[in-house]
Amino acid sequence: MKYKTDFLVIGSGIAGLNFALKAAKHGKVAVVTKKELMESNSNYAQGGIAAVLDPVDNFKSHVEDTYNAGGKIGDKKAIEIMIKEAPQKIDELIDLGVGFNRIQGKLDLAQEGGHSRRRIVHAKDATGREIERALVFNIRHNSNIEVFEANIVVDLIVKNGKCLGAYALDTDEKKINSFFAKATVLATGGAGRVFKNSSNPKIATGDGLAMAYRAGAELQDLEFVQFHPTALNKKGYPHYLISEAIRGEGGKLLNSKRKRFVKELAPRDIVSRAIVEEEKTGPVYLDVRHLGEDEIKRRFPGIYDQLWWYGIFMEKDLIPVAPAAHFNCGGVVTDLNGKTGIEGLYAFGEVARTGVHGGNRLASNALLECMVFSGRALKAAKNFIQGKRIIESAVPRLKIININDRTGKLRRRMQAIMWENVGVVRNRQDLAKTIGKLEKIEEETGTLYKKGVNAQIIELRNMIEVAKLIAESAYLREKSVGTHHIAKN
Ligand code: SIN
Repeated sequence: MKYKTDFLVIGSGIAGLNFALKAAKHGKVAVVTKKELMESNSNYAQGGIAAVLDPVDNFKSHVEDTYNAGGKIGDKKAIEIMIKEAPQKIDELIDLGVGFNRIQGKLDLAQEGGHSRRRIVHAKDATGREIERALVFNIRHNSNIEVFEANIVVDLIVKNGKCLGAYALDTDEKKINSFFAKATVLATGGAGRVFKNSSNPKIATGDGLAMAYRAGAELQDLEFVQFHPTALNKKGYPHYLISEAIRGEGGKLLNSKRKRFVKELAPRDIVSRAIVEEEKTGPVYLDVRHLGEDEIKRRFPGIYDQLWWYGIFMEKDLIPVAPAAHFNCGGVVTDLNGKTGIEGLYAFGEVARTGVHGGNRLASNALLECMVFSGRALKAAKNFIQGKRIIESAVPRLKIININDRTGKLRRRMQAIMWENVGVVRNRQDLAKTIGKLEKIEEETGTLYKKGVNAQIIELRNMIEVAKLIAESAYLREKSVGTHHIAKN
């Protein structure tokens, strides 16, 4: 199939859907997503969106918290823009039908690590899902937007420095579809799944990062991978995210001697390193028993239910926790309006690097980043498409295959290597060896890809590309800052 549109949106998280909905007022939009429309990393965001809404709070304080959490290397101008636009973004979401929690009519503001005030707007413990729900409802009822599910993009189509669109494998129909657009946007999220332990869903395979790199876009700050301190750490169970908002409500971190060992609301990089240190002598737990069953169920119903399925009762049990890969602070370099270095290509959300996160993201600034920069990119992209025409081009011929037994093994090997050597604490000798090991996996993946493609091979090709870039970036940054921590020998 060959499809032509004004705006092509790759990815269906909050960033992509917010852009699509706004873009539909200015032209025809195609949203291409590799699973179903609702399945995205944003959908699993528990915490919320940080915004200055309390009269005792102020922009300066949110800017400082963001800059300090980021190891003081973030871009102050980008941070200020994001924080000043935050309250307006909350209003936009409320207008769209998002049901945030309120107390006596006023938005209920939660506390999370690194914030000097309560400023997290949330929908219980499933904020991402509530925002996605509202966006998906509006998208489904918009006749200017066409959604292509089960289409995993293989690569961008770039000619003479201009992005013309992208081509995708339709995993239901087993065929290649080409999408040509006046403006193409990458809203594909992060790459948490390149690590063995990750809080992210299976789809977080860094597809946008890899395809932008192959297309010649600039990527930066990939070494800054945020490890969320409190993912479930129970053998045989997923590394299920246990929101920082629990620590915001007084949840304590305890070591194997049942003693506290870190300020629970310090930025995530600090808490994660402290946990890794404690793990040398035994497991670490999160204790939320002080809240009592009723309050836990009222405030954290999703987490309560999920842990119940895993045999943990939050009102009486300690929850075993450990860090897990959670968020890519770096990504495709963009200006403050989502523009990449490739004409006609925009990027925003986790796939992008605007400079707002510096070396470590402040809690609940991720959904905020998605909302702010997707809105700003729309303004730039709608002007860009004026007077432009859609240009078509040939795409590579690919053989489509059903299964390949090697992909699972290669994927697991890469994830284990990344977790062992490019995790919370790194050292330069291991990083150097890691790059060589990843190159071997990359070579074998390249051979498989040439023989024939399916969704698993396309994802593996992207993951290994991104894993190598993360390891190389980590090796190149010799000093510790933010989430990038080099152990002293
Ligand atoms: C959390 O709820 O702890 C995760 C939200 C975020 O990544 O900011």
